[in-house]
Amino acid sequence: MVEINFSGSSDIVQKFEGALARTFLCPHAVTTNSGTTAIFIALKILFPAGGKRIAISPLAPAMSYIPIVLSKNIPVFIDVDLDYPFSLDPRALESQLSESTIDAVITVGMWGRQPFSRQVVELLNKFGILHVEDIAQSQFASYLGKPIGTFGVIGCGSLHNNKLLQTGEGGYLLCQQLTYAERAQEIREFGGRIFSNNELFLKLKHSGYGARAGLDNLQYIKDEITHRKLLFNLCDQKFCGNLGLHWPKEDPEFRSSSYGFTCIAASEKDRNEIHRVFHEGGAICDSQKYKLGLAFETYPWLSEFSTSCPNADRISKSTVGFRLPAIREAAAREILETILERI
Ligand SMILES: Cc1ncc(COP(=O)(O)O)c(C=O)c1O
Repeated sequence: MVEINFSGSSDIVQKFEGALARTFLCPHAVTTNSGTTAIFIALKILFPAGGKRIAISPLAPAMSYIPIVLSKNIPVFIDVDLDYPFSLDPRALESQLSESTIDAVITVGMWGRQPFSRQVVELLNKFGILHVEDIAQSQFASYLGKPIGTFGVIGCGSLHNNKLLQTGEGGYLLCQQLTYAERAQEIREFGGRIFSNNELFLKLKHSGYGARAGLDNLQYIKDEITHRKLLFNLCDQKFCGNLGLHWPKEDPEFRSSSYGFTCIAASEKDRNEIHRVFHEGGAICDSQKYKLGLAFETYPWLSEFSTSCPNADRISKSTVGFRLPAIREAAAREILETILERI
């Protein structure tokens, strides 16, 4: 690793990075001050001059798109797969790949759900396209025996308070190549050689205090995942078993870390009713709070990239999604019983 120490960094940060790399079975981990920053740095490493076309689902949150726009690249929205609603539709993806109209793909698994299907993995391998993973909501999941975050050349995670592993605020890059990790270290510290003509950046480092918290929290991550799995099963039983709502079957080779829960209601009206019951019970569903919708319709700064995505439109209007602590905060059983009575 290169030695960069303009503003000084604490040894505990390196220790935390070592622990992250071991946890994710990845050669290199580099921490940053947020998950959004991690995606931004990944794009600056891969496409320093910008102008590249990055394929992404329109159902991801703003934090996944802001780095594309800020790094002066171009988002290309691809419709989702109705069988795996947070995975890109393989037919739409293949047509873009065959026509060489995209330079990279960012996959984003929402609420712990499967971020990409087997077909997408095969297409990405077949075309050798650069794959960046936004794993903020799917960290600690695995697919086909591999940790999510290690399929692409760089996996980007968040350590925000809402995430499974928390350090207050923070993020990290899981890099398969040493050169990427070294460049990430430079970029997060003003861009590295600040006395030469290199591009300058702000300080984007993770704090030593946060790294200490991260090391502590890593010890309890298995308990946190077990707890969330219990809540997940409760929701699955109530929403899908009793209420008849559903979520398409995930590939049995995908092991979620149960970051959150999603289900599809019969209509937009039913979905809104569930949102209302949650709200009255003191918990707001993320799908309501963050207005789950098509990104190019939700955010004016993305409107010029609008394209037809009928599957994503359907999913966004009927899906309920929430982080699992939301149900804990709102006294799970009572809320769910009320929903049962009303729908
Ligand atoms: C899918 C996704 N990507 C990126 C981010 C950005 O992470 P951070 O809040 O640490 O910048 C988040 C955080 O909410 C997220 O959920």
